[in-house]
Amino acid sequence: MKRHNFSAGPCVLPREVIEKSAQAVLDYDNGLSLIEISHRSKAFVDVMENARALALELLGLEGKGYKALFLQGGASTQFLMVALNMLEKRAGYLNTGTWSAKAIKEAQIYDDIYEVASSKDANYNYIPKGYDIPTDYDYFHCTSNNTIFGTQIKEFPDCPIPMVCDMSSDIFSRQLDFSKFDIIYAGAQKNMGPAGTTLVVVKEDVLGKVSRKIPSMMDYKVHIDKSSMFNTPPVFAVYTSMLTLEWLKNLGGIEAIEKENEKKAQLIYSEIDLNPLFKGFATKADRSNMNATFTLENEDLKETFDTMVKDAGINGLNGHRSVGGYRASMYNALPLESVAVLVEVMSELERKA
Ligand SMILES: Cc1ncc(COP(=O)(O)O)c(C=O)c1O
Repeated sequence: MKRHNFSAGPCVLPREVIEKSAQAVLDYDNGLSLIEISHRSKAFVDVMENARALALELLGLEGKGYKALFLQGGASTQFLMVALNMLEKRAGYLNTGTWSAKAIKEAQIYDDIYEVASSKDANYNYIPKGYDIPTDYDYFHCTSNNTIFGTQIKEFPDCPIPMVCDMSSDIFSRQLDFSKFDIIYAGAQKNMGPAGTTLVVVKEDVLGKVSRKIPSMMDYKVHIDKSSMFNTPPVFAVYTSMLTLEWLKNLGGIEAIEKENEKKAQLIYSEIDLNPLFKGFATKADRSNMNATFTLENEDLKETFDTMVKDAGINGLNGHRSVGGYRASMYNALPLESVAVLVEVMSELERKA
């Protein structure tokens, strides 16, 4: 049976990427596996350099003073790495969900964090707007897409101070002026590759401004100076990320995938809005094109719907416990056809009920 993978991450990847990386595990370099060659070998150094260059190229940041790094420890390690590298006096954070709150918690270890705005009052079902960012702070931090709650920042502020963004769940999915950001980070396991590496894109001129001593593994400058090879990199995750970035480039880059992502989002949200059995969780204006969150109006239908979902080969649709209901994660590699299958199941439920 064809499976439709709506998992929130790790998640669906392009089939051709999985096939190529599986092959590379068997034989990458004249009979040697990708995971048994030295990371210092030319074969792997080329992979790392290609992945770093592709990331900057796709984001339109080549030649603009940015460096791309493939680090470890997940996006969660970036919560503290950002603070260690950037926080001297005070920073402002936009609190739009669980991941923003976790980023705030880690930065609080180093200094008092100012929440410029929060949507916690409504269980994070919207994106706060019209807030002020103090001009004398070290940086402003935001989360572009709130994976759990299904909200997405549509317009970023004109930020008077360096802007840092956790783009873990929507990087490479839509066109943005990425040069508005000074640090972008994203765990690979949604739009880029398998778990195990985190892309960090840093504008070099924002570094070197804090007085604290930074442990080497936590220091962006150290990783930049060592071309993202300060320690042994997660070779499989970097290689598979490189393949996914190549796949995206061949499709026509972010511009092309954005159109597909819009079609998928329109399809699911129009069903959520038209079908009286379902209710969207996020405020309409702030709905995420990556993670659509919704609930059943009548919980008595849950068992029937869950069985229909399973029978249709749909995987990973359960909502996060802090929202309940369902979450359809529609990352870059999820085909429109999978969303059509889900929508058909939703309308079939309406016909049956
Ligand atoms: C927006 C966002 N930030 C951070 C994280 C944490 O990422 P990691 O598990 O790589 O630390 C996630 C994980 O889903 C996420 O969705």
